[in-house]
Amino acid sequence: MTYTSKNPEETKELASRFIQGLTARDRAVVIALIGDLGAGKTAFSQAIGEALGVRDPIQSPTFLIEKIYELHKAPWQHLVHIDAYRLESESELTALGWDAIIARPENLIIVEWADKIGGILPEGTIRVTMKHIDETTREIDIQS
Ligand SMILES: Nc1ncnc2c1ncn2[C@@H]1O[C@H](COP(=O)(O)OP(=O)(O)O)[C@@H](O)[C@H]1O
Ligand SMILES: [Mg+2]
Repeated sequence: MTYTSKNPEETKELASRFIQGLTARDRAVVIALIGDLGAGKTAFSQAIGEALGVRDPIQSPTFLIEKIYELHKAPWQHLVHIDAYRLESESELTALGWDAIIARPENLIIVEWADKIGGILPEGTIRVTMKHIDETTREIDIQS
């Protein structure tokens, strides 16, 4: 499905509705965010965190590879927010225990710059592609 968001608030509402429509699976749920700098990947991630009751604001993990937030009233126990921007190869993430992280059903994983790790995204990954149309408009395509 492709959506047009006319402002940050609409992106927030879309992200919130999207996450509320998902349920836990027998492995982690992986959401791959794809789009250029400023497309809205972090904004989308923040809205998911808010919708799931994360108290600390989700920050861009650009200087970290991953940050884990505890969830208290969600179908998952942990929100794992990953920024793949600085990864030089998929093996760096594999070295951080990626295979175990994606195996656990209690994890909800959001990956910014997910196209950088396309080769290790598991089957069933939900792809969210965000495009900058103009200053306040974004095209958001969600493929489950
Ligand atoms: N419709 C929109 N949806 C999402 N963000 C928007 C929109 N319009 C403007 N913005 C702005 O675009 C920027 C997106 O930044 P960010 O989420 O950090 O992008 P990314 O993580 O993809 O680099 C924010 O400053 C946000 O306020
Ligand atoms: Mg970002």
